Amino acid sequence: QKDGFRFFMEKEIYEQSDVVGDCMLGRLNDEEILFDEIDKSLIEGINEIKICACGTSYHSGLTASYLFERLSKVKCNVEIASEFRYKDPLLTKDTLFIVISQSGETADTLEALKMAKAAGLKSLVVCNVDNSSMTRTADATILTRAGIEKGVASTKAFTTQTVVLWMLALYFGKAKNVLQSDKLQNELKALREVPKSLIIDDKIHEKTKRLSKRYLHGHGFFFIGRDVFFPLALEGALKLKEISYLHAEGYPAGEMKHGPIALADPELFTIALMPENLLYDKIKSNVEELSARDSTICSISPLKFDLSDDFIKTKKTDHYMLEFFEMLIALQLLSMEISVRLGNDVDMPRNLAKSVTVE
Ligand code: M6R
Repeated sequence: QKDGFRFFMEKEIYEQSDVVGDCMLGRLNDEEILFDEIDKSLIEGINEIKICACGTSYHSGLTASYLFERLSKVKCNVEIASEFRYKDPLLTKDTLFIVISQSGETADTLEALKMAKAAGLKSLVVCNVDNSSMTRTADATILTRAGIEKGVASTKAFTTQTVVLWMLALYFGKAKNVLQSDKLQNELKALREVPKSLIIDDKIHEKTKRLSKRYLHGHGFFFIGRDVFFPLALEGALKLKEISYLHAEGYPAGEMKHGPIALADPELFTIALMPENLLYDKIKSNVEELSARDSTICSISPLKFDLSDDFIKTKKTDHYMLEFFEMLIALQLLSMEISVRLGNDVDMPRNLAKSVTVE
């Protein structure tokens, strides 16, 4: 069943290009995004979006919060389900409550959804498993169509969630009439290119294999990025923690100087996400600061950066979300290759379960 791959995780990383194609099938045409699953009444009168999820699904939610505000001009905030449930949240009925879950069974996310429903909010689940507890509970479901995900470390579920949420942001933007037609065209064009951006270049895989030899000795990792590359940094750090058991943190690059940079030394590995199409100069100056304090820098970018000790080159594109998916592949492969070298169980890491159905 691994189809010649060493691990389910590896197979699932390589499947991403195809499953994203499935995920988009019938959902976009030349002019707009189509979601048959959504009744117009679901978004009527909605002025705010609240997203709730756990783990990797939380990271796709955080990514979406940037896209919803940028593309749909809807106020959007994101919460970790286990926090949301116990904080006496203020909920207003003009809020659409979105939960994101691969399994549809995560206990905290399911309970958060039930709370929002009880408060009279309209709800939507972005989910990979049809007929799961969440799809049975929410008012509407958008399935991510990633196929069964076996590796405990989520890969293709995250990718398809992010694509669905990006499409949803465009759907909202169009419905609210806030997206200029040329802007929408540009976004649709980029969306159509996502499957291609997820085709894995042998060179990138080889590079992550080579880097893994040294990087397994890191005493700590910072994954840094800005804007949507901040949640991507969180996701990269989570992957490394889960399967390599190395200490890694994801940080918004601009926050480093507010404390974490004190940790910088040559054994601190910084994985810097440096997209060409979004805030390049800003992230560059953050990385310069870390380099000046002797952190070992691995930049992931289409542009070579002189101060990097190591460099994973991504393809040149004209949209930051295409860079996002290319960098995601590099991060997934890097954590997997480090885990392999450490002799860990890539598909079934210690202490973790695929679905967390306890609180
Ligand atoms: O099934 P869910 O998406 O609700 O699961 C949420 C998290 O438990 C899950 O994403 C977890 O963080 C993964 N192991 C991450 O790789």
